[in-house]
Amino acid sequence: MRALHLRDSFGLDHLHLVDVPEPEPGPGEVRVRLRAASLNYRDLLMVGGLYNPRQPLPLVPLSDGVGIIDAVGPGVAGALLGERVAGCFAQGWLDGLPDRTTLGQTLGGPLPGVAQEAVVLRSNGVVSVPAHLTDVEAATLPCAALTAWTALHEHGHVQPGQTVLVQGTGGVALFALQFARQAGARVIATSGSPDKADRLRALGAAEVLDHRTEPQWGRRVREWTGGAGVDHVVEVGGGNTLAESLRAVRPGGHVALIGVLGGATADVSLLPIVMNAVRVQGVLVGHRAAFQRMMATLGLGGMRPVVDSVWPWTQARDALGHLRGAGHFGKVCLAFDGATR
Ligand SMILES: NC(=O)c1ccc[n+]([C@@H]2O[C@H](COP(=O)([O-])OP(=O)(O)OC[C@H]3O[C@@H](n4cnc5c(N)ncnc54)[C@H](OP(=O)(O)O)[C@@H]3O)[C@@H](O)[C@H]2O)c1
Repeated sequence: MRALHLRDSFGLDHLHLVDVPEPEPGPGEVRVRLRAASLNYRDLLMVGGLYNPRQPLPLVPLSDGVGIIDAVGPGVAGALLGERVAGCFAQGWLDGLPDRTTLGQTLGGPLPGVAQEAVVLRSNGVVSVPAHLTDVEAATLPCAALTAWTALHEHGHVQPGQTVLVQGTGGVALFALQFARQAGARVIATSGSPDKADRLRALGAAEVLDHRTEPQWGRRVREWTGGAGVDHVVEVGGGNTLAESLRAVRPGGHVALIGVLGGATADVSLLPIVMNAVRVQGVLVGHRAAFQRMMATLGLGGMRPVVDSVWPWTQARDALGHLRGAGHFGKVCLAFDGATR
């Protein structure tokens, strides 16, 4: 079978398509024949050597994929054969709080990822995907969707009538927008691309502002909430947005600290956090139990992920270049043979 290997050094130019032996599942494992995959900003960092410069090579990149179980190892129920599943981002994190071991077992680095025709995963490291989604749509769920779900539902317990601030038009932000709307919350969105504002409104954003032309947007967001501030911030900018998020959030509100698109360090005053009793909660994707809860809700509600584009999986390098260009709206996806779109 074929696999994409990040071979001897980091960088998009070091991704090579290679022939490798078909992997066989061991005890407690299943083999998933890939149908579709999706890209995350993390994959760009991983391939660039910025996520973990000590990541051993070669690496099969990409964390998010969906496929069909076509072989099971000893001790695994044969009933799983033929099941359409998504791999869990953190293979060993089943529920509760993470520990260092489970956080070190993530797909697409350090564990082999889904940029290959088949991948061996733990039998409890996969989750069935909702029937109403195509393979490509379902492949968007393991990292970006679960991160947004964890932020708003598992940590935030978002309620109807609350206000949620989302930043940008990437995978995490759009899932957060959709989950917030599904929960009956009002959404305020920021985007650095004015041409994307109408699409954000079409997805249900009540207000949209341009964080590039209006870098001090926190006050404006407060005005849009009658001075109160938003209940939840889905923070993906990090370094260059956290200070504004703390201005935008209400006393007692919740900032889900997820991404560092605008820098991994921030020179912010800690006083607004203390004086307004704000909860700043770090999020690392989520565990399997949350993934299952999210899948069940998606199945009931009929929500469909926003897919920006679909590329043949062998063109993952070009697709990653497209993601790096940041012109996308929603998820950049890869299709394997037989993928439904
Ligand atoms: N902690 C976790 O568990 C977790 C999980 C998933 C992702 N993440 C992190 O979350 C971030 C977003 O990931 P993603 O996969 O959704 O990314 P993505 O799909 O690549 O989205 C990036 C989008 O965010 C907007 N953006 C870019 N720079 C920004 C900035 N400085 N401030 C605000 N918005 C900005 C842009 O949209 P516009 O053109 O509309 O401005 C851009 O298209 C990344 O840092 C990623 O590593 C963390």
